[in-house]
Amino acid sequence: MKELGKLVVVGQGYVGLPLSMRAVAAGWRVVGVDVDEQRVKRLAAGESYIDDVTDEHLRTALASGRYEPVAEYGPAAGFDVAVVTVPTPLHDGAPDLSYIAQSGRCLAPLLQPGATVVLESTTYPGTTEELFAPLLEAGSGLVAGRDFRLGYSPERIDPGNRTWNLENTPKVVSGIDGASLAAVRAFYDMIVTRTVPVSSTRTAELTKLLENTFRHVNIALVNELAMVAGQLGVDVWEAIDAAATKPYGFMRFTPGPGVGGHCLPIDPSYLSWRVERSVGRSFRFVELANDINDHMPDHVVGRIGLMLNDRGRAVRDSRILLLGLSYKKNSGDARESPAVRIATLLAGLGADVRAADPHVDPTQVSAPVRLVELTEAEVAAADLVVVLVDHDLFPRGLVTRFARAVLDTRRWLPPAPHVPGQRRAPDAESLIVSAPLAVESL
Ligand SMILES: NC(=O)c1ccc[n+]([C@@H]2O[C@H](COP(=O)([O-])OP(=O)(O)OC[C@H]3O[C@@H](n4cnc5c(N)ncnc54)[C@H](O)[C@@H]3O)[C@@H](O)[C@H]2O)c1
Repeated sequence: MKELGKLVVVGQGYVGLPLSMRAVAAGWRVVGVDVDEQRVKRLAAGESYIDDVTDEHLRTALASGRYEPVAEYGPAAGFDVAVVTVPTPLHDGAPDLSYIAQSGRCLAPLLQPGATVVLESTTYPGTTEELFAPLLEAGSGLVAGRDFRLGYSPERIDPGNRTWNLENTPKVVSGIDGASLAAVRAFYDMIVTRTVPVSSTRTAELTKLLENTFRHVNIALVNELAMVAGQLGVDVWEAIDAAATKPYGFMRFTPGPGVGGHCLPIDPSYLSWRVERSVGRSFRFVELANDINDHMPDHVVGRIGLMLNDRGRAVRDSRILLLGLSYKKNSGDARESPAVRIATLLAGLGADVRAADPHVDPTQVSAPVRLVELTEAEVAAADLVVVLVDHDLFPRGLVTRFARAVLDTRRWLPPAPHVPGQRRAPDAESLIVSAPLAVESL
């Protein structure tokens, strides 16, 4: 295969590793830089820690001789293209751009005239031009636009999604000027099937925040609805499914125990922070959605307390089995997971909390919860089983056959049979849905 050039991918996490693998397959020589030495060691040994990249895939890349995971920037020297995929967390509620700044400072001395640098980390509009470009220029003595190309391209990777992946998901691309846009687009045209150019890096930065804020707000909407629908005697899931039959003007979002991961609990706050700083007003949708979604774990714990109470039990000393600890289906990512928050709250109330999650690496979870196999004995011994994540690997039959009571926050189990004209939640106070097994939905 003809080598397309030397690519540096800074950060070998959920975004950087799949990009590195895809670029190797497309014909690039890839240096994958990550400051986490343990991660680099695992990569070099052919052991992937990212669900969407199999060990086999990683080993094929290593065997090609065109993928080199490293813990220092030196081997990146002489790159044609560099893509930065480092974390952008919140620190005391404000954007923490220190990882971007650090990678800019490290890349700058290695920058050569004619090279292209792309920022992919999610961030607020203005970051590429106001923070990243000056750092690259100061450390290289070069001028962005004149001497090297610079752009921003948000990542849309959706871990665990088996339909949409890096390659077949359209990718928004931008540059600080026309030549930069052309270079950034030319690079991604070799990686993905469709690129979507926009006129500025600010637009591309905002596009990503818009996408995630849209999800965050709509999830908050159905979560709030779920909290009140039962009291209205309505099954919110049935109403959502019915609304989703409208062929235009509606998009299906479903309730859950809260939002987690590296995007929804964080990215919208980048937008509200920037709006507040630049425009001097609050971005009210984000504040409201944060409030509702952040409250969902407390709501779930409240529902658990009510269900146990109905069975003459207190949360203290009850044995509660959580199904799923990650923040989303078919993923092992437990960062900011509402399930971890729920486990912590329950343990604080004195419950014996266990969790089954075949995707999550137990060493990555710091919650007062015992990780167990999902067995008949565990299900049968639990006072309550709480479905928090609807992983495909979970066997429904095991739960419906052996559980005593289930709180299903994902409508993972089939809904109770509906008798036309009869309310679904006969006991509006306790929100109990009639079913052969005591199953309640969120
Ligand atoms: N995870 C997702 O689904 C997703 C989707 C779209 C966008 N994003 C965004 O992409 C960015 C990266 O997210 P992620 O989920 O891949 O994070 P991650 O934590 O999985 O990976 C980031 C990696 O960067 C490394 N790193 C940190 N500082 C570094 C530095 N100075 N030099 C080299 N390596 C460094 C870390 O050790 C880590 O391995 C974030 O801005 C995130 O918001 C994430």
